[in-house]
Amino acid sequence: MTEFKILRYDPEKDQEPHFQTYTFDSPKGMTVLEGLIYIFENLDSTLAYRSMCRAAVCGSCAMHINGVYDLACRTQIDKLGGKVTLRPLSHMPIIKDLVVDLEPFFENYKKILPYLIPKNDPPKKEYIQSEKERKNLDPWVDCILCGACYGSCPVQATDPDYLGPAALMKALRFIDDSRDGSAKDRLAFVATDFGVFRCHTIFNCQKVCPKDLDPTKAIAKLKMKALFG
Ligand code: SF4
Ligand code: FES
Repeated sequence: MTEFKILRYDPEKDQEPHFQTYTFDSPKGMTVLEGLIYIFENLDSTLAYRSMCRAAVCGSCAMHINGVYDLACRTQIDKLGGKVTLRPLSHMPIIKDLVVDLEPFFENYKKILPYLIPKNDPPKKEYIQSEKERKNLDPWVDCILCGACYGSCPVQATDPDYLGPAALMKALRFIDDSRDGSAKDRLAFVATDFGVFRCHTIFNCQKVCPKDLDPTKAIAKLKMKALFG
C-alpha cells in the first residue's frame, strides 16, 4: 500500500494547516501527480492541487515532495519508497491545500521586464541572430516558471522583495540576447540589494530546478557583469 500524507488547509474553514493521510494501491510507474488524481477521483474530491500538462512542461505541479521541491508529474511513487509527504510551495499564501497564490513570484518576475526591448526600430521581416548568438542563451532559456527555486530559497523567505532566482536568471537571458538593447538598464536594476547582491549563494535553486537549469550560476554571472562590466 502507498501512503500519501498531504498538508491540507482551507483558509476559509481551518484555523491552521494539518496533515491528512490517504492509502491506496499504486501500480508501478504511477507518478505523484497520478496519485493525487486518484485520490481526487476515488477518495476525496475536496483535495486541491494544480496541474495541466502532466509532462514536466507547464510548471504548474511544483510542490514539496518528501523534503524536496519538484514536479509531481515527473516524480514516480516507487522511487519514494511507498510513503509520500506533500506540502505546497513555500513563501506564497496557500489558496487551498497544495495550491498557492503565485502572485508574489510573478510580481517579482514582471519587474525585470521579461521581454525583448529592441535596440532600434523593429526590422521589416525578422531579427537575425547567428547560431552562436542563439547558443549563448541556451543555459537560461528553458525555465518553465514552476516556482520551485522561489519556494526553496531561504532569502526569499526573509525578504519578499528579493527578485528571486527565476527572475534574475530571466534578466540575464535578455542581457545576453544580441537582439536586446536594454542590457545597461537591466543590469543596473538587478545589481541592487533586492537583486543579485541579496543572494547568499546557497545553491538551493540549482539543486531543485526540474529543468536542470542553474540560477545560482546566472546570478554569479550577473554579479561579475555588475562589478567588472
Ligand atoms: S529556474 Fe527552474 S526551478 Fe526556477 S522557476 Fe525556472 S524551471 Fe522552475
Ligand atoms: S503538470 Fe505540467 S509540469 Fe507537471
